[in-house]
Amino acid sequence: MPILPADDQGIASAAASLRAGRPVALPTETVYGLACDARSDQAVAAVYALKGRPTFNPLIVHVDSLAAAEAIVEFDPLSRRLAERFWPGPLTLVLPRRRDCAVSWLVSAGLDTLAVRVPAHPVALRLLRAAAIPLAAPSANLSGRLSPTRVEHVDLGDDALAVLDGGACAVGVESTVLRVVAGQAWLLRPGGLARQQIEPIAGPLQRAVSDEGHDPRAPRSPGQLLAHYAPQRPVRLEATTVAADEALLAFGPQPLAGAGATLNLSPRGDTTEAAAHLFAYLRALDREPFQGIAVMAIPPEGLGEAIRDRLQRAAVGSAAGEAG
Ligand code: TXA
Ligand code: MG
Repeated sequence: MPILPADDQGIASAAASLRAGRPVALPTETVYGLACDARSDQAVAAVYALKGRPTFNPLIVHVDSLAAAEAIVEFDPLSRRLAERFWPGPLTLVLPRRRDCAVSWLVSAGLDTLAVRVPAHPVALRLLRAAAIPLAAPSANLSGRLSPTRVEHVDLGDDALAVLDGGACAVGVESTVLRVVAGQAWLLRPGGLARQQIEPIAGPLQRAVSDEGHDPRAPRSPGQLLAHYAPQRPVRLEATTVAADEALLAFGPQPLAGAGATLNLSPRGDTTEAAAHLFAYLRALDREPFQGIAVMAIPPEGLGEAIRDRLQRAAVGSAAGEAG
């Protein structure tokens, strides 16, 4: 896979590929994305194919500004306030398509809404400005695998795919996905923007999918129905003991003793730091020759909600295997 440096030449080359309909992997502040021209049916189809992603699971459209988002979707007042406050940043808003929206219907899997965000990574913003088109970009992993947070973790089995190098992703978990319906904000996917930051503006967030299952009043969120992020080895959550034939994903100042190998997401017990390490550490432990990965409890505060969501999917996914 050609890795492009994120200099003027690399950005220009990536922009030219995108405009010619070829996908390019790009860094964002959350995870690396597999980007393509969101207006092109063919380019979008190529992205679904490269990822092995089911075409009923829609993609996020990335734009460089609120103004560019307004060209493709209709904003309600609360969604606009959230965009003004948190863009660029790890917040995705699901909004109705404009009637004259140029984005391919494949992007939204036929839904009449589109998921949109303005990424905060400077390389992603430079590329969006250079390409001057909306970019559909799911995470740059094979469907069902861990999202890449470092350039060397982008592996889609396509030797020709260019990857722009933006270093390690600062946030480390995917964006928070929200949908406002009748003034009420629904949390479709917990992610890199914590609930505690959103609620002062949006009020209490409703969870579309919770431990009790899918709320029948919730707007659709196809991706949330799928197991995801599957390491090869079984993942065991809320571990309070660990065996010598297990690897340990620890959290906080008192990691469990006795594991065959240990990586600590945040020795000081900080969920923001833990999110930044999550996928890289799961990958590293998955390569160790142990029977499984034991994971210590993560508190639900801050980015803990997103980390717990991803770990639950990893635990289900390592048993079942599915899509994202
Ligand atoms: O941080 C991120 O969001 C990363 C980076 C690359 O921007 N992208 C990402 O994309 O995580 P992806 O495709 O892996 O996840 C997209 C999520 C899925 O859960 C999908 O179901 C949801 O967004 N989604 C997309 N369009 C939607 C829509 N119209 N209605 C409801 N959910 C939607
Ligand atoms: Mg994904």
